[in-house]
This record gives sequence, C-alpha cells and structure tokens, in this order.
Amino acid sequence: MKISLFGGTGPTGKYIIREALSQGYKLSVYTRDAGKVSEFAGKIEVVVGDLQDTAAIAKCVEGADAVISALGPNSLKVKGDKPVMRGLSNIIAAMKQSGVRRLIQISTAAYRDPKDGFALKAHAFALLFKVIVRKAYEDIKATAELIVSSNLDWTLVRIPNLQDGPAEGGIIDIGWYGKTKLSMKLSRGNLAKFLVDQVKNQGFVKAAPAIANRN
Ligand SMILES: NC(=O)c1ccc[n+]([C@@H]2O[C@H](COP(=O)([O-])OP(=O)(O)OC[C@H]3O[C@@H](n4cnc5c(N)ncnc54)[C@H](OP(=O)(O)O)[C@@H]3O)[C@@H](O)[C@H]2O)c1
Repeated sequence: MKISLFGGTGPTGKYIIREALSQGYKLSVYTRDAGKVSEFAGKIEVVVGDLQDTAAIAKCVEGADAVISALGPNSLKVKGDKPVMRGLSNIIAAMKQSGVRRLIQISTAAYRDPKDGFALKAHAFALLFKVIVRKAYEDIKATAELIVSSNLDWTLVRIPNLQDGPAEGGIIDIGWYGKTKLSMKLSRGNLAKFLVDQVKNQGFVKAAPAIANRN
C-alpha cells in the first residue's frame, strides 16, 4: 500500500516517514526541497514542487491509498493568505481527480469539533496562539474547515505541543477537548504512529480526535 505524504520535511514528517516504512508502506513524499529528505534516498519516492504546482501534486497523489499531511504554518511569519489551506485545496482536487479518498491531516484546538466540551487549558492555549500568531491560527482553522467540508474520508488529528521522542508503545489518550482528560504534550513518535495507523483504521473517519501523551 502507498501513502502520499505532504509536510514530510519537518521534524514530525521524518518520524512519519520512518513509521510508515517500518509498517511496510510505500511512500511518495512531496517537498519544496528534495535535499531535506535525502537521508531516505532509495527508500521513498520524492516529488518536488510547491503547493500551487497542481501537476506535481497530482503525480504525488496518483496511486496512493491515503494522503497524510503534516503541513502547517511553520514560522511566525506566514507568507500570503492561508498558504496551507490553499495547498490543501489543490491536494483535495488532485485526490478527487485520481479517486483517492482517505485524507489524514494534523490540526489543533484552533478547530473546534461539535463533540468538544469546554476545555479551559486547550482553548486558552488556542486563543493565546490566535493573539500571538493570528495568520497561522487562521490558516490552521481554515485548513480544517476545508477538509471537513470536502466529502473525503478525512480525519483531523488535533494535537498539543510537540516534543521529539519515540512512540513509547503508542500509549496515548484520545478523545475530545473538555470531555477527555488530555495532557498538553505529545511526542512526535506517538503522533507519527497514530497518523500512520489511521490509514487502515476506519474508527475516526470524518472525525477530529484530540490526542496527547498519557502522563
Ligand atoms: N511544533 C509544535 O509544537 C506544534 C504544535 C501544534 C501543531 N503543530 C503542527 O504539527 C505539524 C508538524 O509540526 P513540526 O513542528 O514537526 O514540523 P514543521 O516544521 O511545522 O513542518 C511543517 C511542514 O509543512 C511544510 N510547509 C509549511 N508551510 C508550507 C508552504 N507554504 N508550502 C509548502 N510546505 C509548507 C514544511 O515544509 P518545509 O520544510 O519546506 O518548510 C514542513 O514540511 C505542523 O502541521 C504544525 O503546524 C506543531
């Protein structure tokens, strides 16, 4: 089975590549800079392009069983208007064109799920993020809303602060803000394992679970 991966060049992206390869998946990784994934040469297919290059995006998505996206605004200065949401719009169009239905995207508490209750810590953190980096917050929220309205078999995986670290046997808490006890930390290994596990797991299709390390 093949995964098409967007956002594979960030720290989490590399954990996702290692997890997917260890679970036996083939990978097609989309990047603006092939040098950033050179350590995986010979083990993955690399497709180079930016998020507006519809032909290159189509090439990356073609033949995939699922798309995983770790795309997210990765600097305090977001260039242009909602670049990640615009990129996802092109990815979704390519998926529909080639009949790929499964889309798994990293998100945050910036997207409020109807099943959430009131969670002071998570929503205060999201509000603080909105005040400090408004453009990044708006891009994450718009990206989530676009995906939810896409009619694909989507899953939004909502996360707190990330830290480097292994999957620790995949022991995490999963649920909804305000309903489930969730810590404010998550290891990138645990996140990568959960994302890759969702390729075959249908339990969170059209759902936006929040996940966190178990304290
Ligand atoms: N770090 C945290 O504590 C934290 C907290 C909440 C949510 N998140 C989200 O978790 C995900 C992974 O975070 P991370 O810290 O491990 O990695 P990251 O450095 O935020 O990685 C983001 C990825 O998105 C790509 N990207 C961003 N803007 C892009 C654009 N305009 N065009 C093309 N590609 C673009 C980056 O590509 P390049 O390498 O080419 O720049 C990179 O592959 C991200 O979605 C992030 O927003 C992180």
